Order: sequence, then structure tokens, then C-alpha cells
Amino acid sequence: MGINLYPMFCVIYRSIAETTIGQSDISNLLEQAKTLNRANDITGCLLFYDNEFVQYLEGDRVRVTMLFEKIKRDQRHTNVQLLFAGHIYSREFEDWTMAYEDFMDSNTGLKPLKLALSSYFNQVKTYKHLNPTTKKFWVVVKSLLSSRSVEKFK
Ligand SMILES: Cc1cc2nc3c(=O)[nH]c(=O)nc-3n(C[C@H](O)[C@H](O)[C@H](O)COP(=O)(O)O)c2cc1C
Repeated sequence: MGINLYPMFCVIYRSIAETTIGQSDISNLLEQAKTLNRANDITGCLLFYDNEFVQYLEGDRVRVTMLFEKIKRDQRHTNVQLLFAGHIYSREFEDWTMAYEDFMDSNTGLKPLKLALSSYFNQVKTYKHLNPTTKKFWVVVKSLLSSRSVEKFK
């Protein structure tokens, strides 16, 4: 038996939020996600922009895969599109059971990310290296969230 160099698994997807979804629905969703993720040792980040979700999930391969199967069937969103699934060396969001950022909030001070995300959603190619399928994008998300001392939930 060799040493498993990539003990973690990661899934990234995007989806379109159910049009009737509101702030309270998202708060409920996050509370539910955080509780379950803590129990399943899953961490990650959920971004909400222009009625679309982008989520980064990381943890044990079987658990993350099972969660993604549940998420795909969740009625609170549609058009779930897998962007990445694969092994990773270590966690990116080890301090968050589910970090969350709502880009509709004009006070977020996350202009660079907002730009990257909007151009990504609009299929503009200028942000080729900074879109949610890249590790770099999530490293930037993490550092921006950290610098704004977004509440941690571990
Ligand atoms: C955009 C979105 C993100 C979600 N993220 C998570 C998550 O990180 N963890 C989680 O357990 N459930 C998450 N859920 C909820 C799951 O789809 C599911 O409702 C939940 O895991 C409870 O499933 P169960 O009642 O079958 O156990 C998310 C749902 C949506 C729509």
C-alpha cells in the first residue's frame, strides 16, 4: 500500500437558483448545510451571484460524491452543472463548514471576484485563469473572505 498523496476530494458545480428563492431560504439552506457538513467533515464555499450558485465542496470522496448526488436533486435550484470533480492534496476551506458570499450585496468589497464571476457567467474569455474551475479562483476567494473576517463555523 502506497501513501495516498491526494486524500481529499473536491467537487465544484454551478446551478441556477429557483426564481422564488429569497434571503431567508438561503439562510435556512446555509444553516442546514453547515450542520450536515460539520457531521460529515465537509468544508467549502458557496457563492451566490445573479441568481446563480457556484459551490466548492471538499472532503472524503464518498461523502462529497453522495452529497453532490443529493444536491443535484434539490428543488431549490436547477441546471446543476459539474465544473470539476477530482482529488486534491489538501483542503482549501478547512476553517469553514460552508463559507458564503452574496455578490448582490453592494458592500461586499469583492469587486475583482465579482468581475471574474460575471465575466465567467457571461462566457467572456478574459478571465481564463480566474474562474471557478481553477484552484486559483478559490484561493483568491478564500483570501478575500479571510481578509474580511467572514464568520467561521468550525
Ligand atoms: C445550492 C445548494 C447548496 C447546498 N449545499 C449543501 C451542503 O454544503 N451540505 C449539505 O449537507 N447540503 C447542502 N444542500 C442541501 C442538500 O441538497 C440537501 O437538502 C441536504 O443535504 C439534506 O438532505 P437530506 O435531507 O436528504 O439529508 C445544498 C442545497 C443547495 C440548493
